[in-house]
Amino acid sequence: MTHLVAPSVLSADFNNLERDAEMINNSEADWFHVDVMDGVFVPNISFGFPVIKALNKVATKPLDVHLMIVQPERYVNQFRDVGADVLTVHIEASTHLHRTVQAIKSAGMKAGVALNPHTSVSQLEDIVSDIDLVTLMSVNPGFGGQKFIENTYKKISDLVAMKTAANTDLHIEIDGGVTLNNYAKLVQTGADVLVAGSTVFSSSNPSQTIADLKQSVG
Ligand code: DX5
Ligand code: ZN
Repeated sequence: MTHLVAPSVLSADFNNLERDAEMINNSEADWFHVDVMDGVFVPNISFGFPVIKALNKVATKPLDVHLMIVQPERYVNQFRDVGADVLTVHIEASTHLHRTVQAIKSAGMKAGVALNPHTSVSQLEDIVSDIDLVTLMSVNPGFGGQKFIENTYKKISDLVAMKTAANTDLHIEIDGGVTLNNYAKLVQTGADVLVAGSTVFSSSNPSQTIADLKQSVG
């Protein structure tokens, strides 16, 4: 199966957001990964509705919105209204996760659940059949450019086993520290969506780097 690549807009040049969005549009990338941080759930603040709305005006590919915010259930419809196609909430920030997942799907989006590095995949056992995507955080959320946490491979394997046992279909997305050196092993282990921020935007040829990350893995 071919994997998807989702460049993270967090690492784009905000003085040239349209230019960077056009680069993604014209590249082999599949989705835009859009990181929303509230300064409470994570120790950083990124951007909110006006910026996502502006991005959505130029983006020709789906917006994969990753909410690193407390009480994400309060904003489901507003993220849909600014253009989110996939809406992912953190399990650690969601007291009533099942209700929130249903609200996201009722609003017409794909529903994702993100897990911090310390959160066991087993926590998903009673929701796995209800969701479209799991984001395994391979860094502690809050910042781009951090080092990949190796325990992520075990978590991918655990999630593949759970998915198979439940006979359900879902995307396994890896977020944080994805590089040209580890992407193949991630896909071989079972990941099918790769988020890449600094690897893409720190490279001298971002579009070519996206193509390199899209290379099929044997
Ligand atoms: C981290 C964000 C990531 C980040 C990834 O909290 O969720 O999406 O942009 O950046 P890199 O690829 O640089 O680790
Ligand atoms: Zn993210």
